[in-house]
Amino acid sequence: MEYFAVTGGRPLAGEVRVHGAKNSALPILAATLLVRGESVVHNCPALTDIQTALDILSCLGCQVRRTGETVTVDAAHLTGAAIPDELMGRMRASVLFLGALLARQGEASACWPGGCALGRRPIDLHIRAFQALGAQVETRGEHLRLTAARLAGRRLSLPFPSVGATENAMLAACGAAGLTRICNAAREPEIVDLQGFLQALGARVTGAGTEEIHVSGGLPLHPGTYRVMPDRIVTATYLCAVASAGGQGVLQGARGDHVEPVTAALSAAGCRVRCIPEGLQITRDGSLRGIGALQTGPYPAFPTDAQPLLAAALAGGTGETAITETIFDHRFRYAQGLEALGAQVRAAGETLYLTGHPLHGGSVEAPDLRGGAALTLAALAAEGESRITGLRHIDRGYEALEQDLAALGADIRRETLCVL
Ligand code: UD1
Repeated sequence: MEYFAVTGGRPLAGEVRVHGAKNSALPILAATLLVRGESVVHNCPALTDIQTALDILSCLGCQVRRTGETVTVDAAHLTGAAIPDELMGRMRASVLFLGALLARQGEASACWPGGCALGRRPIDLHIRAFQALGAQVETRGEHLRLTAARLAGRRLSLPFPSVGATENAMLAACGAAGLTRICNAAREPEIVDLQGFLQALGARVTGAGTEEIHVSGGLPLHPGTYRVMPDRIVTATYLCAVASAGGQGVLQGARGDHVEPVTAALSAAGCRVRCIPEGLQITRDGSLRGIGALQTGPYPAFPTDAQPLLAAALAGGTGETAITETIFDHRFRYAQGLEALGAQVRAAGETLYLTGHPLHGGSVEAPDLRGGAALTLAALAAEGESRITGLRHIDRGYEALEQDLAALGADIRRETLCVL
């Protein structure tokens, strides 16, 4: 069993490069299924979730090759439209392959998707979008089968701006004849990145980043090359790492415009964040202050994925903060770990109440991906030694969190515990 060994309580000083965005690369890899030819995806991070996506593509008959940060997918000849249960169960984003398969093959089948245990995570909005475009949906027990003799473009209105449902609607709409208008679309930067890739394949997609996306589908797409944007949640992680431990850090390649609500919160807490030619620079020389009330929401509001990271940083500061989570039901599972590190924290319903307090070392387990990263950040501020287990969650979203934090000046190592 692997764990992070952290000696905390010392300020950081260093530089780190932000890798490509997991949540962009996943829908982009699903979109490679739309082309009867080769797609080249640069800046594709080496993460276990990305490997799952590549395994799905291979199972469907694609030729997949990785050379460093570049992934090449040749989807000229597909051999099926069924995603194996085991791959579907590994991550929720496997559901994105359904929209692309429907557009390319007119059929797709899979079981319900897995992923982080963040509470109820239905896919009704995805399914309604497919049905609106003309797909038939059959469910048998845990399995789902989608078929469409012909998809036809039309106006879709999402009741909630779901990121995944917006992406799936864009992917399926590429195979639908005529114009699809996706209203109340999610506006996250990852949606804009997916549009960029689809445009590189010759798709006529506009409006990503606004509430209404237009896709003129049904045209054959051509091979294309694209570079995935830097990961904004990894950016938020390293900003919060410096906020947690104090000191100074440079995040090479980070996009300040993608993390404005995070930098605003950190500035309110007493950090200085500056856009510099290489990316972003953050400095924290005094103690962190509580920031009152904060609420997560769909982009451009404060991202739910960064909520545990900010809470971890503020836990070791001073003053009060109340964080209300509006996107997922069970997103405070890391609070127990923070408490084990000495935090004064209380979750009540959708709100987490924090009173900044000095942290001490302890042994904690990552409850999910961002919750695990959050506990690691808290350990950077905690006096003494900490041990973080459950690294399989963290490795889903960070290429090597410990190496990047070490580059920022943290005392952290990945160790292996021999269990006899
Ligand atoms: C994506 C991100 C995830 C992030 C989330 C919100 C990826 C791979 N993952 O997840 O990291 O935390 O956006 O920014 O990009 N919902 C429904 N029915 C649906 C779909 C969603 O009720 O069919 C609900 C969900 O349960 C949740 C909310 O809508 O409460 C937001 O989900 P959504 O935006 O779809 O998130 P994901 O695409 O799953």
